[in-house]
Amino acid sequence: MDCLHSSVSTSRRPLLQVPVDPPILAEHIRRAYANRENLHRLDHLLNGSVPGPDSIQMRTNDYLGLAAHPRIIGAEIEALEEGGHGDSLSRIFAHRREDRHRAFERRLANLMGAEDSVLCNSGYCANVGLIQAIAGPGSVVHIDMLAHASLWEGIKSAGATARAFRHNDPAHLERQIQTYGPGVIAIDALYSTSGHKAPLAAFVEVAERHGCVLVVDETHSFGAHGTDGAGLVDAAGLTGRVHFRTLGLSKAVSSRGGAIVCSARNADFYRYEAMPMIFSTTVLAHEVAGFEAALDIIRDEPWRRQRLHANHTRLRDGLDAIGYNVDISDSQIIGLEAGSDDAIIAFRDAVERHGIFGSVFCAPATPKNRAILRFTVHCNLSEADIATVLAALDSVWFEVGAGDWTSSRRRRGRTTLSLAA
Ligand SMILES: Cc1ncc(COP(=O)(O)O)c(C=O)c1O
Repeated sequence: MDCLHSSVSTSRRPLLQVPVDPPILAEHIRRAYANRENLHRLDHLLNGSVPGPDSIQMRTNDYLGLAAHPRIIGAEIEALEEGGHGDSLSRIFAHRREDRHRAFERRLANLMGAEDSVLCNSGYCANVGLIQAIAGPGSVVHIDMLAHASLWEGIKSAGATARAFRHNDPAHLERQIQTYGPGVIAIDALYSTSGHKAPLAAFVEVAERHGCVLVVDETHSFGAHGTDGAGLVDAAGLTGRVHFRTLGLSKAVSSRGGAIVCSARNADFYRYEAMPMIFSTTVLAHEVAGFEAALDIIRDEPWRRQRLHANHTRLRDGLDAIGYNVDISDSQIIGLEAGSDDAIIAFRDAVERHGIFGSVFCAPATPKNRAILRFTVHCNLSEADIATVLAALDSVWFEVGAGDWTSSRRRRGRTTLSLAA
């Protein structure tokens, strides 16, 4: 930190003047810190050490290894050379244009078996804008307790009432609907910290029984699951029964942008009602060119998805054999739950000493004392990389006391076998 300050200060203007925070702001910040007494610890906890060139990175959401794909970069450069950044405006003024954005929306809808889609600036904007547009004061939004923060923000933005139901528990959802009435149901198809998939068919049935609107966030499943990456709703044959699907183009598509996918009528409603669509500048044309190229690659190079899932299975099975609780991960996201902040720091540091980097998630992203080290598997991991990860995770098992973690004890009645034992 000191180093950072000194290097920054050398490039600062000598007469830098820092405004004094008025009491109203100083007090607000003091209270926020007081409510999160361990904020400084959390900051340290999230930062960890810095990966080197030979580290094994399992932090990225670039599941299919597309970040530097020459077809994507080529398509973006071509689009930039052709039209520069194009019009820098809110999409509200351009919905009727038959341009690159609109062509992409049609293509995405077609891929996902829907009537239409709307491009958004990010997955976050897609979710906030959607809930804000389809709910309002007096509406109830039944939301999975582990659903993404952007869906929760959408509820706040709408002024709607959030009713949380137990994670992946359609029976609890049904009881909540019986108590609080029908409304919007918001779930993730694939949960970003645990890798847990939602039981989609069961949620669809509850939604239909009670006349609810079903919103499914496919951010982590789009591109990585289903035919040509169309996602889990499509894979389950439920496209005609889910009202809205949302996605970030920031994971398997390895870019920055998002979309909602739905009926033509609802897409049009969203276009003119969702605040982020109205009051924020749209994605740029060369970014859309990159999305198009990514969809081409996802379609043309299925080996990437196959390798992703083979890698996930190999890593998951290996971790299971060591004794880690991977019971809930049935996808490319593997979250190992160390528990307390102290436990996750010890685990994270031990793993990083072996040159392996995951991402720490703790409260409020997880329930309190259920902090997780998340490994996002990707298709560029080699068999040797996975063997290295498994050897490292095996060797730290006793050092970090993983056998005593609550998650290990929860591991369903199975014996612990450490390779190091
Ligand atoms: C489940 C889920 N939904 C939405 C988002 C937001 O997507 P984006 O990063 O494209 O804004 C994320 C990203 O972290 C996510 O994990």
